[in-house]
Amino acid sequence: MDILKTKADMQAWSADKKRQGKTISFVPTMGYLHKGHVSLLDIGRPLSDELVLSIFVNPTQFSPDEDLDAYPSNTANDLDLAQKAGVTAVFLPDKSQMYGPDYQTHVFLDHLPQYLCGRSRPVHFGGVATVVTKLFNIVMPDVAIFGKKDFQQLAIIRQMVKDLDFNIRIIGGEIIREEDGLAMSSRNAYLTTAQRASAVCLSRAISLLKQRVAQGVRSVPDLVREMETFILSFDHTRVDYIEVCHPRTLEPVEIIQAETLVALAVQVGKSRLIDNALIGPS
Ligand code: PAF
Repeated sequence: MDILKTKADMQAWSADKKRQGKTISFVPTMGYLHKGHVSLLDIGRPLSDELVLSIFVNPTQFSPDEDLDAYPSNTANDLDLAQKAGVTAVFLPDKSQMYGPDYQTHVFLDHLPQYLCGRSRPVHFGGVATVVTKLFNIVMPDVAIFGKKDFQQLAIIRQMVKDLDFNIRIIGGEIIREEDGLAMSSRNAYLTTAQRASAVCLSRAISLLKQRVAQGVRSVPDLVREMETFILSFDHTRVDYIEVCHPRTLEPVEIIQAETLVALAVQVGKSRLIDNALIGPS
C-alpha cells in the first residue's frame, strides 16, 4: 500500500496507473475509520484495479464554532484497516497541501445545500463540494463511493458531478449500524456511556415513523411532532431538525404520498448525530 502525502505525488501515482490502463475506485474520508468506511472500501475494491482512500479533515467544511480541533483521529489504526481492506494507495495530505495561503476558489450549489443540515451548517456543503472537487482532480478516480448516512452530501456530490461534467461514477453505500440501530459515525466516539444509550433515539424515531406510516398516518406535521416528543424523552438530546422531504430535490413535503426521505439531526451531548431513511406510503 502506497502512502502519498503531496498532491503532486498522488497525481503522479494516478497518472501512472492510468497510463497502464488501470481504473481507480476512490473513498474520500476524514479518517477515524469504522465499519461504515470499510463497507465503502468493500464496495469500491471489486469495481476497479486500484483502490484509493483519502484521509483529510477538511477545515473548510467546519464553521468556527464546530468540532474541527476535537475531530477524532487515529491514523495508525486507519492505515491498518486500509491495508486489510485492500487499499492500494492512501492520500494523506496536510492542510497546507490542500489550501495554500493564497487559496481563493470555492464550489457552491444553488439549492440542495439550503435544506436539512445546510440550514444549521451554512458553510458546510460549500466546503465539502470544494474539497471533493479538489480530491477528484488529484486522485482522478473512475468511481467514487460515499455513504448514504450523509444523504444530503451524496445528493450534492451527484449534482456537482453532473453539473461540472466530472467523468466519475458515484455510488452510495448503505448505512452501517451498531446492533441497537445507531448509525456508525466517527462522532459516536464523543459519546459518554449515558449519551450512547440515548443515541439510539434517532433510529428508533425513524422506526416509529415507519410504523405510523404503515398504520396510515400521512400528515408530516403530525408525524414530526410525534418523533420529536419521542426523541426528547431521551436524556441529553436536543433536536436540530426532523424533515420529511422529496428524496431528489430535498424540498419538504406536507403529506406522504410517494417515496419520501425522512432525515434528522439530533445533538446528543457534544455529538451532532444524523440519520435518515427512505419511506413509502405502502
Ligand atoms: O463524508 C466525509 O467524511 C467528508 O465530508 C468528505 C466527503 C471526506 C469531504 O471532506
